[in-house]
Amino acid sequence: MPRFKNILVTGGAGYIGSHCVVTLLEAGHEVIAIDNFTNSVEDEDGSPALQRAEKITGKKITFYKADLLDKPQINAIFDKHPVDCVIHFAALKAVGESMQQPLLYYQNNLLGMLNLLEIMRSHNCYQMVFSSSCTVYGEPEHLPITETHPTGSITNVYGRTKYFIEEMLKDLSAADDKWNIISLRYFNPVGAHPSGLIGEDPTKEFTNLMPFLAQVALGKKPVLTVFGTDYNTPDGTGIRDYIHVMDLASGHVAALNLLSQTHIRLKVYNLGTGKGVSVKELVNVFERVTKAKVPLKYVDRRLGDISAMWADTSLAKEELGWSTQLTIEEMCTDFWRWQTMNPDGYPKKTKKTEIVVNGKS
Ligand SMILES: NC(=O)c1ccc[n+]([C@@H]2O[C@H](COP(=O)([O-])OP(=O)(O)OC[C@H]3O[C@@H](n4cnc5c(N)ncnc54)[C@H](O)[C@@H]3O)[C@@H](O)[C@H]2O)c1
Repeated sequence: MPRFKNILVTGGAGYIGSHCVVTLLEAGHEVIAIDNFTNSVEDEDGSPALQRAEKITGKKITFYKADLLDKPQINAIFDKHPVDCVIHFAALKAVGESMQQPLLYYQNNLLGMLNLLEIMRSHNCYQMVFSSSCTVYGEPEHLPITETHPTGSITNVYGRTKYFIEEMLKDLSAADDKWNIISLRYFNPVGAHPSGLIGEDPTKEFTNLMPFLAQVALGKKPVLTVFGTDYNTPDGTGIRDYIHVMDLASGHVAALNLLSQTHIRLKVYNLGTGKGVSVKELVNVFERVTKAKVPLKYVDRRLGDISAMWADTSLAKEELGWSTQLTIEEMCTDFWRWQTMNPDGYPKKTKKTEIVVNGKS
């Protein structure tokens, strides 16, 4: 039985949250998940992703439709459940949208976090794993990127919300040594659960490479647009560190284990594979393992895009005892299985037909 029993997962109905919930349940944790469905699918019974997570694991999840901006609602959940640790995924994450609607992003991501931390403190819960991002590093000064690389020189609002939160966590842990927090800087999560039952199905517009690739392979979108072919990389396209979402999920269990054994106050870890893969290489692997054809359209670079980024993962290996197990082929195969088993994603909420009896509904 793990030392931390009850884990509150914010954003649990989302892509990474739902995969992490599966791994948490399999590791013996009890999960209380919350989500407001701003970027995940809702049906009559709540979250189809979490219902399928229950099916995969044969275990129950306590779920609340709740918004982190609604403090009384979140407070009531903490009143009801003794929470040992929070994994905080809930955030808005679209870079383009964040540039058009900065206040929405600052309100949701920063105020959501502030509310959560205040409620945790008032319930004597000081343990947290936070979803950060490699975006906090900005343009790399060296590769691979270590956790000591400077942060803050970021070109988009979304990335700045992650950076500001990390700064806030530094101040908090310096002021009060009760806090015990791990900030995980994810590189590029892709793939899906190998069952094909859960995967990535955002409700907002998305530009992430893998879902787009799959939509093109399915014939739902005509071409995959590749931004930039003149980067200083071997084939001229951008290089990223893609990590299988199930490896990412096991990184969270490793983080919980460390928090439950050691009072570290605040630590930051990169979660990536440590290997860079170019857009062209990813497309080639995807075509090979799926036997699907992906037409490409090459256009100019996007403003603010970074040419190459991959992680130094030695700290996570040393201190969390964690490293990735899954290959780029498995990322593509598993994502394709999810996409072909669920070409339209999760079943969407249908409006219940109103039944009229004797003139009364
Ligand atoms: N997917 C990536 O490429 C990536 C990379 C680095 C970091 N991250 C971070 O990881 C976390 C999870 O990402 P994801 O890809 O699963 O995104 P996602 O959008 O699939 O999941 C986030 C979930 O949070 C919910 N949510 C947002 N605001 C909320 C609020 N105020 N109250 C309650 N629920 C709310 C959304 O409805 C969604 O279900 C995010 O914090 C994201 O910034 C993601």
